[in-house]
Amino acid sequence: MKKPLLFKYVFPFVQWYALMVFLTLVIDYFLHRYQLVYVGRYLGPLGTVVILLSFIYSLKKRKLIESSSPKKLLLLHEYLSWIGSIMILVHAGIHFNALLPWLGIIMLLVVVASGLVGKYLLKKSNESLKDRKLALVSTGLSAEEADKKLFFDSITVDLMKSWRVVHLPMTFLFGVLSLMHIITIIMFSK
Ligand code: HEM
Repeated sequence: MKKPLLFKYVFPFVQWYALMVFLTLVIDYFLHRYQLVYVGRYLGPLGTVVILLSFIYSLKKRKLIESSSPKKLLLLHEYLSWIGSIMILVHAGIHFNALLPWLGIIMLLVVVASGLVGKYLLKKSNESLKDRKLALVSTGLSAEEADKKLFFDSITVDLMKSWRVVHLPMTFLFGVLSLMHIITIIMFSK
């Protein structure tokens, strides 16, 4: 029996987003309870490095690296950026000191939400590309070659194109606000 669309596409999105918020609150609670709040300071830079590492996918996409498959590296992007986001959310905590970093956090929340939507849109467009894979294989291409070809095709189908209009500019804004936050910290710490 086919799963209803709501369960197939919406539920996984809500589940991953809610888990991110839940883990943030749990970690924040324990850091406060055991007087380890200072750990949160280090989670900012660490989360940033983890998110930056997730962009190995972009290097692969632009053929700047040879190793690994785009599919695996996209999964790495999704998981590392999700984990890095939790670190940054704990770092931000529930304190409100300055406006700019908080605008950055809102951007982060939007980027992760749009990333999760993209993940399931991509799944949907991949499903509609299955027939094309069969056609490619029947022309003599190996299954692996067909997968590689179709992976980037699935990202350029219309649905994904319009989705990138949210995910990418929001990432840019998030990056700018994070950079301003880092510069302010360096300037004002003695
Ligand atoms: C801090 C969080 C995140 C940032 C800053 C971010 C940023 C980006 C950027 C810049 C790209 C474009 C890659 C390129 O064209 O070179 C991208 C692609 C993508 N991201 Fe994220 N992302 C984040 C989180 C997520 C999450 C949590 C998911 C899903 C679970 C996700 C799913 C995707 C997908 C499916 C693509 C592929 C689409 C494509 O290649 O155009 N992202 N992301």
